[in-house]
Amino acid sequence: MHAVLSPQELALTALRATLPAEILTQDDTEIERYSRDGTGDHYARPLAVVRPRSVEEVSVLMRCCHEHRIHVVPQGGLTGLVGAAVPSFPGGEVVVSLERMNTVRSVNPIDFTMVVEAGCILEEAKRAAEELDCLLPITFGAQGSCRLGGNVATNAGGFNVLRYGMTRDLVLGLEVVLADGRVWNGLRTLRKDNRGYDLKQLFIGSEGTLGIVTAVALKLFPRPTQVETALVGLASVEDAMALYARARRECSDLLSAFELLLRGCIEIAIDAQVGLEDPLSQPYPVYVLLETAAGGRVDLRALVEDFLGHTDGLVLDGVIASNRAQAARLWRLREVMVETQGRGGRYLRTDVSVPISSIASFVAQSLAALAEAHPEARVVTYGHVGDGNIHMNVVPPLGMPPETMDDLFHAAEDIIFDVIDRHGGSISAEHGIGRVKQKAYLKRADALTLELASRIKDAFDPLHLLSEGRILPLRDV
Ligand code: LAC
Ligand code: ZN
Repeated sequence: MHAVLSPQELALTALRATLPAEILTQDDTEIERYSRDGTGDHYARPLAVVRPRSVEEVSVLMRCCHEHRIHVVPQGGLTGLVGAAVPSFPGGEVVVSLERMNTVRSVNPIDFTMVVEAGCILEEAKRAAEELDCLLPITFGAQGSCRLGGNVATNAGGFNVLRYGMTRDLVLGLEVVLADGRVWNGLRTLRKDNRGYDLKQLFIGSEGTLGIVTAVALKLFPRPTQVETALVGLASVEDAMALYARARRECSDLLSAFELLLRGCIEIAIDAQVGLEDPLSQPYPVYVLLETAAGGRVDLRALVEDFLGHTDGLVLDGVIASNRAQAARLWRLREVMVETQGRGGRYLRTDVSVPISSIASFVAQSLAALAEAHPEARVVTYGHVGDGNIHMNVVPPLGMPPETMDDLFHAAEDIIFDVIDRHGGSISAEHGIGRVKQKAYLKRADALTLELASRIKDAFDPLHLLSEGRILPLRDV
């Protein structure tokens, strides 16, 4: 008599029979690193991990999954922050890691385009573009480990969005394996293409729920030959906003970053004891890390000095980096702060946006409400001013028990999101919805939006096999 196989065992038997052995692993130790995302908070082991080497292998995999109703979750560099890439489907999920599809297929400095495979690490793609004097402008802390397919799936943002846009604005074409294994070839590098629906847009920011991105065509820019980085101290967020308004007009549209950091952020970076010192001679309530970049014969240094020298008292003190190493140290403050803010433990991340003109009001109202309701918590506030995007994170006091911590996070998130709602903002500006922000998203989304979104999901993934339960709720079975 044969033993009855569980659905999971049947799925794995089908995959083993279909895929080359060297791309499928169930090895416990190997699987471990595919079980967590960038937050470290979500942990779940996949049924198996498949690491395809080509679009054909992804296609074969998905045909098999479609036939045998196997649930999959695509993974890139696992730097996401909303739990989307960690297995979560109740019956188990197979991880499809794109990490072996990591080549830069082409860079074209005449077209200012490049084509990369989904598993290409962002920093490596940036370097390949630089070699031909081009700039791939997606830039953020995780660029050394995130992968382009994930950047597309999450419509990644970062430091340079104010000038170059989100990932969506930089994608010219995509190659995508659909849930049934067919390959949608939209890998074009055309600047203009108005033929019917722009289907690639649906995959961008879909968090793995509509298809598996296998290759990306990206828009490049001339590589700036001059970059000026400055850190300035100001009295208030209002003053930072006034400075931003001036910078937009007075820096000849050459502004490429304008990052807000409240004093606490600088303290976190210094306390991390990685050799970073207080950057200005005395502390200020608010800091702005700003960058301008240009090519050609413009005297960028003079432009920035002139701008910062005539701010009618908005800038109280500041430093303009005199070389690349000093500029890198200023950016290290921003990076170290992000990496160490949670003191190695759990904390509440928020990633919200409001109209740029409402940033000061949003920050003031939410900080006041949080201080009143939860004086025990440390609130870390920073953000991308030019995008109206603030990260307001809540760090629990040391030693807080896990249940109390969960209550704190829920209450604090409600407070921040209430203020966001009052300002007509978004509860997720750049990190996406995944599972972590799903409840808050569904609570606010109108019925028609959800109906249309569900119909799109059904059209692309009728069996709901891809990243099921992210963004939209699990389908009733
Ligand atoms: C940042 C990422 C975490 O702004 O969004 O650092
Ligand atoms: Zn950010």
